[in-house]
Amino acid sequence: MSERDFSDPDVPLTVLGVESSCDETAAAVVRVVGDRAEVRSDVVWSQVAEHAPFGGVVPEIASRAHLRAVIPVIREAVEAAGGWDSLDAVAVTSGPGLVGALLVGVQAAKGIAYARKLPLVGVNHLAGHLLAPFLSREQAIGGRPEFPFVALLASGGHTALYRVDAPTRIRELGATRDDAAGEAFDKVAKLLGLGYPGGPMVDQLAAKGDPDAVKFTQPMRGRDNLDFSFSGLKTAVAVHVAKHGVPSPGAGLEDLCASVQKTIVDNLVRKLLAAARREEVRHAVISGGVAANRGLRAAALQGCQAAGVALHVPPARSCTDNAAMIAYAGAVALRSGRRDGIDLNARATWPLADG
Ligand code: KG4
Ligand code: ZN
Repeated sequence: MSERDFSDPDVPLTVLGVESSCDETAAAVVRVVGDRAEVRSDVVWSQVAEHAPFGGVVPEIASRAHLRAVIPVIREAVEAAGGWDSLDAVAVTSGPGLVGALLVGVQAAKGIAYARKLPLVGVNHLAGHLLAPFLSREQAIGGRPEFPFVALLASGGHTALYRVDAPTRIRELGATRDDAAGEAFDKVAKLLGLGYPGGPMVDQLAAKGDPDAVKFTQPMRGRDNLDFSFSGLKTAVAVHVAKHGVPSPGAGLEDLCASVQKTIVDNLVRKLLAAARREEVRHAVISGGVAANRGLRAAALQGCQAAGVALHVPPARSCTDNAAMIAYAGAVALRSGRRDGIDLNARATWPLADG
């Protein structure tokens, strides 16, 4: 594979990114020059419909669906971006995630890098989410963040807070002790018969409900730390539904969704602001699938404004799983001199600190 040097930030670097860590097969081409990260193509093939009957992601179904989609998705992304000759390197999510799912993307990326004699780099999926606000996209809230910043990553598989001093210097400040925030949305939606994934459904219904209609205890109330816990909320909703039944649309469903959403959102925003205060930083980022939530965006914006913290939120498309963020994180890694060989492997777990 090629030994080209990418360390000069002003020399254009065009990276193909491949993502297959969970239930989205994605490929994108990003061209990085100086501070600009232009998304030249961004293809996401969602498997949601295949997992919906099971109310969650089934790993074996995910691997097989990735196998079917990976080549057409990569081909579409490369063709839309100007063809194979425009590429300088290949970046792929190599962890954390479902190993069988990750392996599909990793093997495809290795094959392409080998055949085209391109450098290859394995990317941490979480770093991809945290660096998503650096993609140059018009609909982003707050534009590019300045270092250092604190970041809330809230998705279906992860909920954690980080301090980011540089693209490759990231420290975890706290994380969920049980369910992720997205998982809480999904499990509550399942209890209410709303289908999978539940986050967007709860978000939609919550917009029409009264967030103070049902009082739920704030998770980890009174604890002075930056960890999260959402499994108690899921149990509280189950108890509420067992007692009162599942409410119907127009007769309590919207209120219940709004109340659950408010409990999750208040908790996320409170901890994000506590992290910014403790770390004495003036910039904050929210990313991950749950950052698409309109209630979270509004509350974070309001809370950050009041605290004098500049908030940066990628557009919803860059918050949920995608390969543009992986291509960008790959470009950062390549600029810093990192490369992987043909022996690159998938990692089910990969804490960010050593990524
Ligand atoms: O980042 P992501 O696409 O995949 C993971 O890495 O997990 O996040 C998916 C999660 C799901 O749990 C989904 O319900 C949640 O993000 N989600 C939302 C919204 N859109 C997606 N949760 C709340 N409100 C939304 N609008
Ligand atoms: Zn993700």
